[in-house]
Amino acid sequence: HLSRLDIHPVIDSTNEELKRLASTGAPSGSVCLAECQTAGRGRRGRAWVSPFGVNVYLSLLWRYPFAPSHLGGVSLAIGATLAEALTRLGAQELALKWPNDLLWRRRKLAGLLLEVAGESQGPCHLVVGLGLNLGMTAGQGSTIDQPWTSLEEALGGFTVGRNALVACLLDAFVEALDRYGREGLAPFLERWRAHDAYLGEPVRLLLGEQVIEGIHAGVAEDGALFLDTPEGRRAFQAGEISLRRL
Ligand code: BTN
Repeated sequence: HLSRLDIHPVIDSTNEELKRLASTGAPSGSVCLAECQTAGRGRRGRAWVSPFGVNVYLSLLWRYPFAPSHLGGVSLAIGATLAEALTRLGAQELALKWPNDLLWRRRKLAGLLLEVAGESQGPCHLVVGLGLNLGMTAGQGSTIDQPWTSLEEALGGFTVGRNALVACLLDAFVEALDRYGREGLAPFLERWRAHDAYLGEPVRLLLGEQVIEGIHAGVAEDGALFLDTPEGRRAFQAGEISLRRL
């Protein structure tokens, strides 16, 4: 369940704020929301464009009694949960780009930044960070270096209330995180696969400096990406979870 909800007009990053709170003992189910972020972060060290008042910048803290090594599939579980929650709100043609970018007609609608911290023997805690473009204008998003869209565009101009939207997403995330703790990735896997964006298509994987090309051949039971390369089928683990000691 949710235990605490802070809403900031301005913050550096809701993920950073929640990590600070986590280190001072904030309970599982703590939430941080902001109207804008001055240092919003995406995966792979990128910035997340975070203009005031028009989008969703949300982070949720979740504590698990087990070791961080069990969290390998959680980003796919949350991605599938996000896609389904927005589909229930009326969005169609949503797709997931492994591990958990949410796309609409091949343009980025939302991103998830999951950060986990804990001792190798457990317990651990997870910060789920969601950036969802809601009503951002072309001008506000002009510095974004990839094709993007907003939920208002995906819903055909229909505007959803931000509060209702956030409530619905938090509900869905809490249920998913709880279920993941009990059952792992299994109950989410087919739901993720139903939204797989690039299945059967040539893709490029960036592993630090290394670039690996192949055909995207789906996801494994543990959430790894299968890539068919000239050397055969290879599996890659989701690299967006950065593991740190507390
Ligand atoms: C990505 O697709 O690269 C992930 C983007 C995650 C952005 C969200 S916005 C709320 C939370 N705070 C951050 O600094 N990042 C995440």
